[in-house]
Amino acid sequence: MIKIFQLLGILFLALSVSGCADFSLFKETASSGKTAIAKEGMVVTAHPEASRVGYEILKDGGNSIDAMVGVHFALAVVYPSAGNLGGGGFLMYRENTGEISSLDFREMAPEDAHEDMYLNEEGNVIDGESLYGQKASGVPGSVDGMFTAHERYGSLPLERLIEPAIQLARKGFNITANQAKNYNNLRNRFLENNRNPGTVTLIKDEKWQEGDLLVQEDLARTLTRIKENGRAGFYEGETAELLVAEMKAGNGIITNEDLKNYRSVWREPVTGQYRGYTAYSMAPSSSGGIALIQLLKMSEHFPLQDFGSKTARTIHLMTEMERRVYADRAEHLGDSDFWDVPFTELLSDSYIAGRVNKISMDNATSSEDVRAMELENIAESEETTHYSIIDNEGNAVSLTTTINSAYGSKVFVEGAGFLLNNEMDDFSSKPGVPNVYGLLGGAANSIQPGKRMLSAMTPTILEKDGKLFMVVGTPGGSTIITSVYQTIVNVIDHNMTMSEAVSEKRFHHQWKPDQISIEEGAIDDAVIRELEEMGHRIKRRGSIGKVDAILVRPDGSYEGGADPRGDDWAIGL
Ligand code: GLY
Repeated sequence: MIKIFQLLGILFLALSVSGCADFSLFKETASSGKTAIAKEGMVVTAHPEASRVGYEILKDGGNSIDAMVGVHFALAVVYPSAGNLGGGGFLMYRENTGEISSLDFREMAPEDAHEDMYLNEEGNVIDGESLYGQKASGVPGSVDGMFTAHERYGSLPLERLIEPAIQLARKGFNITANQAKNYNNLRNRFLENNRNPGTVTLIKDEKWQEGDLLVQEDLARTLTRIKENGRAGFYEGETAELLVAEMKAGNGIITNEDLKNYRSVWREPVTGQYRGYTAYSMAPSSSGGIALIQLLKMSEHFPLQDFGSKTARTIHLMTEMERRVYADRAEHLGDSDFWDVPFTELLSDSYIAGRVNKISMDNATSSEDVRAMELENIAESEETTHYSIIDNEGNAVSLTTTINSAYGSKVFVEGAGFLLNNEMDDFSSKPGVPNVYGLLGGAANSIQPGKRMLSAMTPTILEKDGKLFMVVGTPGGSTIITSVYQTIVNVIDHNMTMSEAVSEKRFHHQWKPDQISIEEGAIDDAVIRELEEMGHRIKRRGSIGKVDAILVRPDGSYEGGADPRGDDWAIGL
């Protein structure tokens, strides 16, 4: 199977080279494409140019954190739908000693934010206000996150790591066919949300075509200020002034003080066992870790391998588990700096067993009958991006980052050339009113100044027998958790290679709405009929997630799996 993927990779490479993008560097390594196999290290990201930047840093003797910094800034240039300076994210990091740390660089609500900020006088949510325009943004965390992680673990100088992104912005890069389609589709949104379309690099008069050169001079200047002044090059000085001016030009509320005060936080990862493997994932302010470990612990109660991969029984059981986990998410999860998250109770064996015991093997439960633990319609594409890196010493980075939906708030900071997030929509604007991903929430995830909005991002690392086994994560809004879960089950229970697991079609249930969303072609018609007879409602939809992951194979080599759903690319060394 790997051979087929390698051939596809070579074919894609040949097409790319004969087309317009210059991927000639990849000739240096035989191991590049949708699948890559290598012994000395691996980089898998959402864009070939960003993977190349990470690869070159590792080649120059940088470690995985150095490559992470290079990739992050490069993605802000070559993958503006989700790569970012104006967003935030989560890092899961495993040193080759087995030490695990995780960094929360999620955006924070500005000081002037308040619980009712998206409600009108009647107390109803104002349509679109948490999604578009300046008011939709939280205080960006990405630049602080990169500097904080590098300070602790980096080895090469930051100037070396930021320079490739500056070059990509200044000299330009050839956009992919997917990007051309995206920019054309979003033209009106960009026009509606920016005062001066002439400064928005993603707007042009003619239609974008694959291979067009995208040059971003304002962004190159912003990156240069960051390279020269460090953290202050973003949170203070000219960049901060431009960002605050952008806020004032609309109805935004981020101030200079908000920017100056932003700090990322090292957090204890959430951990759990699954069939002899140990999983480490992200604690709140992401819901990803708790939800993933709940799903894995529930799955241990069932012989999924015997039940088969895409059978009605397996899909039914996984759906029932997902239904229960998302009910808990809506009620109990929020930023743990503001909300008392019941970690121990939610992950306890007895609670998990109790939840599982209520699952019928034959019939779907109605979501109306599933409540969260009692303590004493997707409107637009789900963007975000994930990358996985392992260096030649075996240090592993699993990092998911986002500006929320595709191209965030659609607002470019005028003169600074980067997009702002619309992460405020990840708060619960009003209990019972779903966000853009149809997710519900309540007090745990209400808006408060300085609080981080609940995320679903699930950067995850797995170990077997105390050794690194898998690095995995994905974009996909509310579907992130279930995509990571299914990828892990594909490898551990269904013996798939990394590429097979990443490419496998996916399905998703999130408690409410009460439906199984499936990718086209994911499930046989006969299986769908069986599921419907059990009482499940099926909704077909476009692709779910874009998993970029690395597996450590029994001989110690790395298999990078880049998701075929996008331009994602793996390079080994
Ligand atoms: N904005 C998507 C997430 O954080 O889950």
